[in-house]
Amino acid sequence: MQDRNYPAVIEYHDRSKHHYHQYARSAGRMDWENQPIPFRFYDDSIRVSLPFLQTDPAVNHAHLFRRAGRSAAPFTLVNIAGLLELSLALSAWKSLGNSRWSLRINPSSGNLHPTEAYLILPETDALQPGLYHYNPLLHGLERRAVASPALGEQIESHFGTGGFLIGLSSIFWRESWKYGERAFRYCNHDVGHAVAALSLAAGLWGWRFTFLNALSDRQIEIMLGFDRTQWKRLEAEHPDLAGFVGSQETADTPRGLPEEVLQALAEMKIEGRPNRLSREPVGWEIIDDTAEAVRKPPTDEHRSRYGRRSFIDQPDSPLSAPAVIRARRSAIAFDPQAVIDSSGFQAILDKTLPRDGCPPFDAQIGQPCLHLLVFVHRVQGLQQGLYFLLRSADKLQAVREAFRPHFDWQPVEGALPLYLLQTGDFRQDAARMSCHQEIAGDSTFSLGMIAEFDAVVRPAAYRYRQLFWEAGMIGQTLYLEAEAQGFRGTGIGCYFDDPVHELIGVSDHSWQSLYHFTVGRPVEDPRLTTLAAYHHLESSRQPGRREK
Ligand SMILES: Cc1cc2nc3c(=O)[nH]c(=O)nc-3n(C[C@H](O)[C@H](O)[C@H](O)COP(=O)(O)O)c2cc1C
Repeated sequence: MQDRNYPAVIEYHDRSKHHYHQYARSAGRMDWENQPIPFRFYDDSIRVSLPFLQTDPAVNHAHLFRRAGRSAAPFTLVNIAGLLELSLALSAWKSLGNSRWSLRINPSSGNLHPTEAYLILPETDALQPGLYHYNPLLHGLERRAVASPALGEQIESHFGTGGFLIGLSSIFWRESWKYGERAFRYCNHDVGHAVAALSLAAGLWGWRFTFLNALSDRQIEIMLGFDRTQWKRLEAEHPDLAGFVGSQETADTPRGLPEEVLQALAEMKIEGRPNRLSREPVGWEIIDDTAEAVRKPPTDEHRSRYGRRSFIDQPDSPLSAPAVIRARRSAIAFDPQAVIDSSGFQAILDKTLPRDGCPPFDAQIGQPCLHLLVFVHRVQGLQQGLYFLLRSADKLQAVREAFRPHFDWQPVEGALPLYLLQTGDFRQDAARMSCHQEIAGDSTFSLGMIAEFDAVVRPAAYRYRQLFWEAGMIGQTLYLEAEAQGFRGTGIGCYFDDPVHELIGVSDHSWQSLYHFTVGRPVEDPRLTTLAAYHHLESSRQPGRREK
């Protein structure tokens, strides 16, 4: 059955495509005076400075993607602060001349950071129970509401374990300021990156992040107090998703919340006023209309099963898991001569396969719908060419039928579900299709994430966003594993959509490329200076101190 909002999704999707002859609509220039602030503050709210980790969790790189055997840490404020420090906090500042900008543990298209995070915490050792906004600039929490002490108990009894809730939201204007109509896609990629960052960091404390897939957007809006917030015009936050962070022991974590918890959250008195982000925000009607068309209704709880595939053996990275997380950056240029060996290449792709009990994909956004069209440029032991990594085995027949009939589909030796489609030098094609960005051709390999699109979106328009979340999660995994293997990645949101589809022989909406990525040996820009993530707080900071 076709969702009545399916045509609206298709209209947005096609309209936000980049073509060789025409980019998707945007302002066409950057109005620097009007650039939205990348940090949300709540004025008149109680602020709590979070402590910084004294020592990072002692987890080696290989265990970043495996949680088994680690016992769950207690849900203290210090540990929760650690989770935020290794997922959504600042990672560094860069400066060039008079400009200075911060980077974060999670990446964002254009470094614009539309994603905001909220925590619904039970009573902890140091905090009242309630709703808090995470402010990454301050590494602090801003209290938005106090909840009754019973809330924590209700949540614990529902999930069968202690833990807390996290909600994510997007401020579209932060992205549309630069990217116009395509911004809605990027906001959702960024949500996926944030989910993967949270899921992987939660694993370091032996916790599991579970996406609460039964909740509707309306319920999340109420949980996060958005319905009781006076937003500035065009700067409202849109609810994306909520997750539960609990100890890993629970096998069948619920995917919704009981009525009594939703009611208690709806009754919380909301505090604080959102700051103004921009002098004169500009509306992008198609984004608001699309956001409306893909609003999620309440749905039945759904559990995904991925199976228990073992990881490909490889020498461990000299970096610990937290060191990999902290080191993640986007490459801005690559050494065009660099080569990756086949085992490093395979280890990177291997991490993108979902497995039961393994972060980040056991956050369970859903069954895998995205597969990787890989442009192999310089991988030792592999011919240059076009390859396909199938992220769910049952789709082989469907993709073979949909793609160009002359593709070889020759299985590549090894444990990965990787197929050679066609040999050849695709360096120029990859760069050209990526909005002429050299990083897609100078890399060791680059890729497009090809989604089974129509079959997913036609019956349920709200799943459009989830496809981009899955893409962002794959992107985050590639970033981290590339870093661990001594290489570096960059997410590529700017690519020409239909030329990619033409390359694989798809002319309808059955399969669509939703995100690209490239991995190579980075060339640093020597003009840039790096500053510590929280150098701006050092003198005033008293961890745990309350400020008004
Ligand atoms: C969804 C998404 C799309 C992106 N698209 C591009 C791109 O097309 N070209 C590019 O050079 N970087 C791209 N990036 C990288 C961002 O510019 C980068 O994440 C941001 O500047 C922050 O830097 P960092 O990743 O080093 O923290 C993208 C990142 C994301 C998350």
